[in-house]
Amino acid sequence: MFSRITGIGGFLPGEPVSNDDLARRGIDTSDQWVTSRTGIRFRHLAEGGQSASDLALEASRRALAAAGLAASDLDLIVVATSTPDFIFPSTACLLQSKLGNHGATAFDIQAVCSGFVYALTIADKFVRSGSHRRALVVGAEVFSRILDWSDRATCVLFGDGAGAVVVEASETPGILSSALHADGAHHGILSVPGSICGGKVIGDPFLRMDGQAVFKFAVRVLAEVADECCQAAGVAPADLDWLIPHQANIRILEATAKRMKLPMEKVVVTVDRHGNTSAASVPLALDEAVRDGRIVTGQKVMLEGVGGGFTWGAVLLAF
Ligand SMILES: CC(C)(COP(=O)(O)OP(=O)(O)OC[C@H]1O[C@@H](n2cnc3c(N)ncnc32)[C@H](O)[C@@H]1OP(=O)(O)O)[C@@H](O)C(=O)NCCC(=O)NCCS
Repeated sequence: MFSRITGIGGFLPGEPVSNDDLARRGIDTSDQWVTSRTGIRFRHLAEGGQSASDLALEASRRALAAAGLAASDLDLIVVATSTPDFIFPSTACLLQSKLGNHGATAFDIQAVCSGFVYALTIADKFVRSGSHRRALVVGAEVFSRILDWSDRATCVLFGDGAGAVVVEASETPGILSSALHADGAHHGILSVPGSICGGKVIGDPFLRMDGQAVFKFAVRVLAEVADECCQAAGVAPADLDWLIPHQANIRILEATAKRMKLPMEKVVVTVDRHGNTSAASVPLALDEAVRDGRIVTGQKVMLEGVGGGFTWGAVLLAF
């Protein structure tokens, strides 16, 4: 038994917010700085009342419609998020309730920007074991809530959004291989180091990052894990049709493609219009490239994540 992606959906809240819009809102930055260092031109920001489960709901409805399934058909719901609605219950349970599904296995995965590849790999293992047949895998984030809007080095980089896929049991292979890694020794270079105790936030509730350390780490592990995943499936990197790395920074994407000896024409890029949407970035990019007809049946697609933890991983698809 194998698992295959049979439906994809994405959702971005509100209108695009440009770098100039951020400067107009009082952030000491410029379009020239952000574009030249990151490739980011726009991001979407959730309204005050919109939570991760609200964004996940819209993306999930679209993925279910694309798969031709109802929410009641699902027996597994996995949500990757680092910006959950509540401490508990999980965002997966809240999404389940909003979808009107009763009884499916539902839980969250927290692997920050690698969350979607972690969640997809877990769903693949559930489905291939035969215990579950129809899974919904979602990456949903409202990173705007954990940004320090007075820290120009981080607040310009991130955006909000959600992407979802339906994964079904199949006799033909869809997910060819996957690899997941973490090294907690690097937890300090990207973190939100606060906690809640006695009704108060203890420590710092905002995202903090050593940008240059993250940059170097990301480029190295994205190339390594893609290679590992290719080797596991017996696929040469040159035979990949599409590479969809986590959309953190155009320079990270370019450096990864260069290390893998892939032309940028094979890399799906959304970071210019979405910013870094953490666990949502990979399914949002996959959704865009499938809907606009770039990714078609029969192609080989490598999905890759890297993020806080540090965590990293990849999933190779025969689409
Ligand atoms: C964040 C990042 C763009 C910063 O680029 P950098 O070249 O390392 O820039 P630095 O942090 O050294 O800052 C250079 C200067 O720009 C300034 N600067 C920082 N953010 C700025 C902004 N938004 N607008 C204008 N100037 C800014 C800094 O204050 C600094 O000024 P100084 O030299 O006067 O002190 C880059 O390190 C990066 O992309 N890292 C990876 C981040 C990432 O993708 N994280 C998520 C991974 S999941």
